[in-house]
Amino acid sequence: MDFKEIVMKRYASKEFDGKKIPQEKVDELLELIRYSASSFNLQTWKVKVIEDQETKDKLLAASMNQPQITTCSHLLVFCADANIMSNIKKIEKMMKDAGVPEAGYKGYIDMMIGFESSMNDAKRVEYAKEQVFIALGNALNGAASLGFDSCPMGGFNPVEFKKILELPENLHPAVLCPIGYGADEPKPKMRFSKEDVFF
Ligand SMILES: Cc1cc2nc3c(=O)[nH]c(=O)nc-3n(C[C@H](O)[C@H](O)[C@H](O)COP(=O)(O)O)c2cc1C
Repeated sequence: MDFKEIVMKRYASKEFDGKKIPQEKVDELLELIRYSASSFNLQTWKVKVIEDQETKDKLLAASMNQPQITTCSHLLVFCADANIMSNIKKIEKMMKDAGVPEAGYKGYIDMMIGFESSMNDAKRVEYAKEQVFIALGNALNGAASLGFDSCPMGGFNPVEFKKILELPENLHPAVLCPIGYGADEPKPKMRFSKEDVFF
């Protein structure tokens, strides 16, 4: 499939058939997610990959009992990582380790530090979440490109997810992406007209 076909054919699956996606395909998808673009390359995401049925069953009630949660092969919980300073430090170390001279990155790092300090905690979470949705886009189209299905899901309780998955303070579940083989049929696409969208 070329990219246009992938975008046109991908759909939000409402139920999966429970079959497992081969691990090497899952790994390929995780690489597509990892290579997503992000503001300042800060990669403010962490993705919890859940395969075991027991955990998926525990999360069902916190996901409005949507069947994708328990029928998927793997459930990806996209979390916004609000510890932005830690990521700035990681990028700084990567540049250092890559042999970039300090003069080549110090200004960039200082700019990021200034930007980070200008935000309050709520803004940090919001900023991190914006980046997560770029990675989600890659996950959705990436799944279709690899021959399986997915569903972006905002219908869940992030507070409950955080509790059940025992996530650290800095991680905020932002959106879910169950992946698997769809047991449903895609519905005809309903999209606003070009005139409605572009001006
Ligand atoms: C952020 C976001 C949250 C969504 N939440 C849900 C959800 O909780 N449950 C669900 O079945 N679909 C959910 N969807 C899927 C949309 O309903 C779906 O993408 C839209 O109707 C267009 O259909 P298509 O993706 O099949 O083309 C969500 C989509 C997005 C982007």
